[in-house]
Amino acid sequence: METVVSGIRSTGNLHLGNYFGAIRNFVKMQHEHRCFFFIADYHSLTTHPTPGDLHRNVRQVLIEYLAAGIDPNAATLYIQSDVPEVTELYLLLNMNAYKGELERCTSFKEKIRKQPDNVNAGLLTYPVLMAADIIIHKASKVPVGKDQEQHLEMARTFANRFNRLYKTDYFPPPYAFNFDMELVKVPGLDGATKMGKSESEGNAIFLSDDPKAIKKKVMRATTDSGPERPGEEMSQPIENLFNLMRVVSSEDTLNHFLDAFNKATIRYGDLKKQLTEDMISFTKPLRERILELDADNQYLAKVARMGAEKARESAAKTVREVREIIGFKTF
Ligand code: ADP
Ligand code: TRP
Repeated sequence: METVVSGIRSTGNLHLGNYFGAIRNFVKMQHEHRCFFFIADYHSLTTHPTPGDLHRNVRQVLIEYLAAGIDPNAATLYIQSDVPEVTELYLLLNMNAYKGELERCTSFKEKIRKQPDNVNAGLLTYPVLMAADIIIHKASKVPVGKDQEQHLEMARTFANRFNRLYKTDYFPPPYAFNFDMELVKVPGLDGATKMGKSESEGNAIFLSDDPKAIKKKVMRATTDSGPERPGEEMSQPIENLFNLMRVVSSEDTLNHFLDAFNKATIRYGDLKKQLTEDMISFTKPLRERILELDADNQYLAKVARMGAEKARESAAKTVREVREIIGFKTF
């Protein structure tokens, strides 16, 4: 049995990219391993510092985790800020994280570009907090999408550096993990290669989207003028639609449309109609559970309380031991 940790920032509703990149793996792993899944609300403050949305977003991710099938009795499901021990480990790790390596991080450079007026220290040290989240439970496996690979590499650097500096093998090095071997990247509907909530309007299909919203987004998805002769190469937006079909449709359906594309007889309208239908059937049970859970505050509070208690127990033990390794002593 291995220890598994993963989290998602609470910056809005979850989409199919989050589901296939991360949550689907959480659900598959929860009965086989010692699992910790959390809502990264401290991390959300690096880009979304609005108090008015904070709780609503945390609550929404909690609901959607549960709706997607995370069992709070099997995995430890908690909210990052309910475990303040993580901030102490973050502070201690910051002493051995260097400005240069943090500035070179791709996600930091991207954030500087996206929010030039708010290049805060939290953004710079984002990978340190993420490493603290992971190693505070001494996890070795971290189910995430492909975009998080570099963050995991940094988490390994910080864990290994701690071990080297303090001459110990206390922290196991954590690795990004996907159940089907390859890390996943679900594309967006606007022709962009990644589905994400901070991309353009209409790029993402949310788990909570109703059939009308799904239809509207898929029908508006970017396409091209279509293949003119058999065997033509696929453009990025069309490849995206096929990759979306790969995650929600049956193999027969996918092969039918691939065949039509290769023969240059495809009608994108038909493909979109089928994709809409398959996305609606996929999200329908999720949406129903989201609505049910949304009405059950008492249950949500119970889950959060139980998760905080279990997570804190594990985190406090690590912080206690780390303090000892570093050399803190009580008089
Ligand atoms: P977003 O990009 O929408 O802000 P996050 O960065 O909060 O999403 O990602 C949360 C988790 O979901 C991470 O594990 C991330 O790798 C995964 N993820 C997000 N978008 C995708 C995607 N398009 N394909 C695969 N995984 C994704
Ligand atoms: N950086 C991750 C994201 O954008 C969220 C995250 C924070 C995380 N801490 C983590 C993921 C620890 C895995 C493990 O989605």
